[in-house]
Amino acid sequence: MALTILLGAQWGDEGKGRVTDLLSEDADVTARFSGGDNAGHTVTVGTGAQAQTFKLHLLPSGVIQPRTVNVLGNGMVINPARLRAEMAALAQVGITLSPERLKLSHAAHLITPAHVALDKAEEEARGADRLGTTGRGIGPAYTAKISRGGLRAELFTDPEALADKIAAHVARVNQTLTSQYGAAPLDADAVASEYAEHAQALAPYITETSLYLDGRLKAGAHVIAEGAQGSLLDIDHGTYPFVTSSSPTTGGVLTGLGVGPRYIDRIIGVTKVFQTRVGEGPFPTEAFGAEGDRLRGTGANPWDEYGTTTGRPRRCGWLDLVLLRYTIRINGLTELVLTKLDVLSGLECVRLCTGYRDSAGRLHAELPFGPADLAPFTAEYEDLPGWSEDVGAARRPDDLPAAARAYIDRISALTGVPVSLVSVGPERSQIIRL
Ligand code: IMP
Repeated sequence: MALTILLGAQWGDEGKGRVTDLLSEDADVTARFSGGDNAGHTVTVGTGAQAQTFKLHLLPSGVIQPRTVNVLGNGMVINPARLRAEMAALAQVGITLSPERLKLSHAAHLITPAHVALDKAEEEARGADRLGTTGRGIGPAYTAKISRGGLRAELFTDPEALADKIAAHVARVNQTLTSQYGAAPLDADAVASEYAEHAQALAPYITETSLYLDGRLKAGAHVIAEGAQGSLLDIDHGTYPFVTSSSPTTGGVLTGLGVGPRYIDRIIGVTKVFQTRVGEGPFPTEAFGAEGDRLRGTGANPWDEYGTTTGRPRRCGWLDLVLLRYTIRINGLTELVLTKLDVLSGLECVRLCTGYRDSAGRLHAELPFGPADLAPFTAEYEDLPGWSEDVGAARRPDDLPAAARAYIDRISALTGVPVSLVSVGPERSQIIRL
């Protein structure tokens, strides 16, 4: 057994969570390595009338498997209030996470209300140039980390140092909030006492998680590195500046967990069979009007294209293979998982973007300078015949209409990567192994 990496191959919201749910059935450890509560992942606990649905933002999906250990790695930024709220919600249905089952890296960074206030103030000040952040303090917490002024989770084991650092941190942020943004300052004492309480509750979970993971991997455990967000939101490789502040890519797994590459076995990229994006930024295959609405769904179902974290309607469009080939390259993906094939049923024609045309009429199969500036390009499509059949009941490749199989094969042929799973609906059983 070894390290399986599971990543979003688009702009996030690819349906990674359900794939991790599936894989975590035989995982010993599931680990988050980047991001924070900007992520959103819906899991269902129990079946039938007893089924309960949770929105996890920080905890890895292994929390619902009784024997899986869950790691929040050093590459994450953790809002302790949100973490405790998630743990409390799970405790209500009998899932109590002891320090044996949940391990929080001493080197993960903490998000405070001051980071959240800064995120909102910065976003407001950007005006028309806003990034569309989730407002969870992610950018300011990572900024503090990189500028070496961050608060690490290890402070939870040292209450005195924590109180001093929080006081200094809030005072510093208050200065920026009031002088630069004309925003209200925070009450430093209130934040300090709130964090003293978080420290007491979470100190038992603080672990040297790199050492823990190395020990488990050496002993043959199966570890799943669970990606949040998507590769195109990567701070280095994404559609900068419309990105998040972390590395939700293969490189981020290694630094965000403190493990070496020799344990990696599979690198799975999850992509929808169409494209979605939340927030701002160019989107060459975006579909507008009725076409976009058709892909988005009405919002009546929890799996329609509305944000898990913010509730915002997602922008929708056709699958972009220029971008997919790019995310395959930067991550070294060894296989693809396609989600939401059922959404395309009933369309007369399904489109794949195979290249970009620039303003001089030149065709590009690869991006000349990465995906940061997509605005000058128009998408070139290959149109394939659609299928009218509902595919929700398909369980084997042979159950799929020939046109749907041809569409999947074409994605694999144009990217050079095998497709291992295809989802045809929101239920656990609605996954076809190819
Ligand atoms: P931030 O991560 O809150 O700073 O937001 C930066 C950008 O990343 C915004 O466009 C967000 O909408 C996007 N983003 C962050 N997390 C997710 C996610 O889990 N799914 C989809 N988009 C996300």
